[in-house]
Amino acid sequence: MQNKWLSEAFKGTMPNDFQGKIGWQSPSNIALVKYWGKHGKQLPQNPSISFTLSECRSETFITYEKADSFSFKFFFEGKENPAFGAKIEKFLLENQEFFPFINQLHLKVESRNTFPHSSGIASSASSMSAFVMCLMDLERFLSLRSLSTVEASKGRPIELDLQKASYFARLASGSASRSVFPKMALWGATDCYKGSSDEYAAPLENDIYPVFKTYRDSILIVSGETKSVSSRAGHSLMEDNPYAPARYAKANENIKNLLIALKSGDLDTFINITESEALQLHALMMCSNPSFILMKPNTLNLINEIREFREETKIPLCFTLDAGPNVHLLYPESEAEKVEYYIKNVLADYCDRERWIADRVGNGPKKLL
Ligand code: PMV
Repeated sequence: MQNKWLSEAFKGTMPNDFQGKIGWQSPSNIALVKYWGKHGKQLPQNPSISFTLSECRSETFITYEKADSFSFKFFFEGKENPAFGAKIEKFLLENQEFFPFINQLHLKVESRNTFPHSSGIASSASSMSAFVMCLMDLERFLSLRSLSTVEASKGRPIELDLQKASYFARLASGSASRSVFPKMALWGATDCYKGSSDEYAAPLENDIYPVFKTYRDSILIVSGETKSVSSRAGHSLMEDNPYAPARYAKANENIKNLLIALKSGDLDTFINITESEALQLHALMMCSNPSFILMKPNTLNLINEIREFREETKIPLCFTLDAGPNVHLLYPESEAEKVEYYIKNVLADYCDRERWIADRVGNGPKKLL
């Protein structure tokens, strides 16, 4: 329990005229070493590492107004969306000890994603991290309002505490904990990284070779259908998966070796671990009970094409997969021209209506309002 953040929670009186609107955008992320299996209150069974993306992001606005009790409405892309609103409301109510001030507020949350609906891209990491950034900003604003003018003029930190944001985002959706940091993040305790924790992610930006800060992620849309297994159900299937102990041991070994490769710029090891992690994630789903096959024929066609192309050209590109059929093609920016030509001329034929999204490593959340 992070008592530090519990004791920091704003418990003062809310000014009667407290109202306004704030907005943040936050990106999605793509895991290289996968988080698959959790315990306790959203704690991971193994550490994970991801690239923070840039173009696939959520933009969230909160309009707030003092009220006698908590009330809440959620709109997604202009329409009220009670199903998604219920997830955010549950997160707020379950964790209200951290946000006691919400009991005096009416909140209207409006969110949109920059990536298309039917792209099969999970949005919980971007949407939950954007929401948490708004909530923390709202609390900061409230604390500032309650200070006297003299105290306020002494100034308060302008930057939000990203470790705290990561902690709250993790409570809302595990992978969201990694989205608050620029470039790359590590979530989960490991002896190989000082300061790592199961409770929040850590920024990796200063521990990676420059080439990784330039990485592109071209997301090849094999199918835009929503996933047939939610990540929530997927994590709980790991509880009875006979290969779970071996998986968690392997993930820890992959974290150790990937951290070394990221630091030294060893692209062969990076490729080897990244592809093996993607295939392990899908293998775990294939051997859970009930089992799921989330790859489509064109997922396999793309994997084979990508491996052949790498063999022939020696361009260090590789693939990873999320818990779905779409393929994330990862490569350094210096190879972008050749790889994009290859996507347009060969790989796009395997995509749903030739769709792919050009994304890249990004800088994390940004204040919009
Ligand atoms: O954060 P969740 O509960 O949506 O789980 C994410 C699981 C994967 O995307 C498959 C892997 C990961 O580490 O992001």
